[in-house]
Amino acid sequence: MENLCEKAFSSLPKHISCGYYGVIMNKLSSALALLATIALPMSLMAQAPSLAIQVDHPTVKVSPTLYGLMTEEINYSYDGGIYGELVRDRVISHGFGSLAHWTMVARGNSAVDISADETTGPSAALTRSLKVTVTAATAADPAGVQNDGYWGIPVRPNTTYSGSFYARTDSAGIPVTVSLVNDSTGAVAAKATVTGLTGDWKQYSYTLRTGSVPLSSNNHLILTVAHPATVWFDLVSLFPPTYHNRVHGNRIDIMDKLAAMRPKFLRLPGGNYLEGEHIQDRFEWKKTIGPWVDRPGHESPWRYRSSDGMGLLEFMEWCEDLHMQPVLAVYAGYSLAQEHVEPGPQLEPYVQDALDEIQYVTGGVDTKWGAERAKDGHPAPFVLHYVEIGNEDQFDRSHSYDGRFAQFYHAIKQHYPNLQLIATAPVQSVTPDVIDQHFYMSAEKSFSEAHHYDNVSRSGPKIFVGEWATREGDPTPNLEAALGDAAWLTGLERNSDLVIMASYAPLFVNVNPGGMQWATDLIGYNALTSYGSPSYWMQVMFSDYLGTEVVQSTLANAGPRVYTSVTRNQKLHKLYVKVVNATSDAKAVKISLEGVSKVAPQATLVTLSGKTPNATNSVTNPRAVVPVTHTITVAGTKFVENFAPYSVNVLELTY
Ligand code: AHR
Repeated sequence: MENLCEKAFSSLPKHISCGYYGVIMNKLSSALALLATIALPMSLMAQAPSLAIQVDHPTVKVSPTLYGLMTEEINYSYDGGIYGELVRDRVISHGFGSLAHWTMVARGNSAVDISADETTGPSAALTRSLKVTVTAATAADPAGVQNDGYWGIPVRPNTTYSGSFYARTDSAGIPVTVSLVNDSTGAVAAKATVTGLTGDWKQYSYTLRTGSVPLSSNNHLILTVAHPATVWFDLVSLFPPTYHNRVHGNRIDIMDKLAAMRPKFLRLPGGNYLEGEHIQDRFEWKKTIGPWVDRPGHESPWRYRSSDGMGLLEFMEWCEDLHMQPVLAVYAGYSLAQEHVEPGPQLEPYVQDALDEIQYVTGGVDTKWGAERAKDGHPAPFVLHYVEIGNEDQFDRSHSYDGRFAQFYHAIKQHYPNLQLIATAPVQSVTPDVIDQHFYMSAEKSFSEAHHYDNVSRSGPKIFVGEWATREGDPTPNLEAALGDAAWLTGLERNSDLVIMASYAPLFVNVNPGGMQWATDLIGYNALTSYGSPSYWMQVMFSDYLGTEVVQSTLANAGPRVYTSVTRNQKLHKLYVKVVNATSDAKAVKISLEGVSKVAPQATLVTLSGKTPNATNSVTNPRAVVPVTHTITVAGTKFVENFAPYSVNVLELTY
């Protein structure tokens, strides 16, 4: 193959690089494309794609916060997702379906009945409970209740799980056995006994330790008693080991995937989830802090109830763990069912709530809400630069956003003049520091929008692209989507003096049946394992190889569906050339580096590609489309590099 490459370029100057031909020559179509190029007379070779890079001519600075994450409770992102809890519906909620994941356990001559009891619960926030009435049970035939988790409870060998529950009983002293049991074999993976139950509500802890059991996800958590008794349970919980060993923390595999993206910020807590369908369903942060027993949970607009285990402090700790800054979205008086709060006195309590929220995040322990945060276990304040007022307020048909935004703006600036305030729709009465714009696009649209910000005025607010995605692929984006996404990101990079932050949405999807409410999500998972989509890997590449300044570059004769962005890090003498080839042909691009006298011969080429635009990753085939890194040789400041069909490429050069 190498010979073919050398032959192909024998009529061209010696500095042409053949490094990547080892890869593309494996593909017949690519070989044919190359042969066609070779057959061209030299006069036509001038028409070959070229990329002229003025290395010594930086145009704009790259925003240091360009790439980050956006999150909300959707597609079982927290409960059943990144939040480590394994018990589903641990809070017994109101109404139909509240016991959907709790079922009776009885065998032999044992007998049990379960119901949601509206008359007793462990706290003012949790006023219902799971009533388990065992009328017959023995040590040989215990009876009780089981939980099926989020599409199964994952069990790993030699692992310690930490659990707890609230309970009371009419048979003081009755022991409760907690076990992890395999659905198909009935094998008990781990077991513990909890004693000391009384007639009063109290929290009990237990530990389950597995031995050399097989890895599986089809397990239940079972709570049984060996004598007739009535036991009321609430907040039954089980956690596996978590990222950074946080108590009640996050899933390790998913956090590792996020860490690899090197995100600079986390936009939280939404999205529609911030607003709720109705005002009463908004993200009421004060009900998401403190002990679980004081968190009632709430309805999310994505058609399931949130436990609020992932509350305001947990969001902040998530940021802390991944060294991201929070972009805190505060509820601004508009909910999705076209409900809004009039600006003026009616809005005041909501403005005060936002001020309290900012104080909870940033205040010293000598402030009311800073002290509350310290009580919750985190005395050190968090660093906050950006606060977003609402979400997608252009959909508020009452057109009240202008007044609502201004009221929040003045109040927040008065107390926190250094905070940068983000508007979610155009406003007139005050000038926001930043505007959040959202783009959900087909691949075609993403390609055509790659130059969207090239000519936008620099005299207005900065731009936060707080949600964007090419929506091709379900549940996660395919390669075509990743190509569209990459084309789009080249435009954001080139304009990152204006676009200071960007985050893909939605971030997560539980791929089990019924897990997805919104198609095309960056990272997929089930109870046991997770995977990154092609677009995820593309974003890892874009974030890994990003300079501090954009440099002038001109792409010529590449035809449609080829996109580039070039950045440099002058301190490191590194140049990062991104080339997106969204065509079915390989592209041999003549690259010339102007304004530098030399370039190191050893360079790195990272390529994400696939045979067809439909190529994708899945929970069963997680690595079909992943980046491949090659060390290549470039012979000078002018060389030809070859970019595979349907590929996203980053070329790292040292100058
Ligand atoms: O990302 C899914 C939804 O899209 C978000 O909740 C909302 O802000 C947007 O409309």
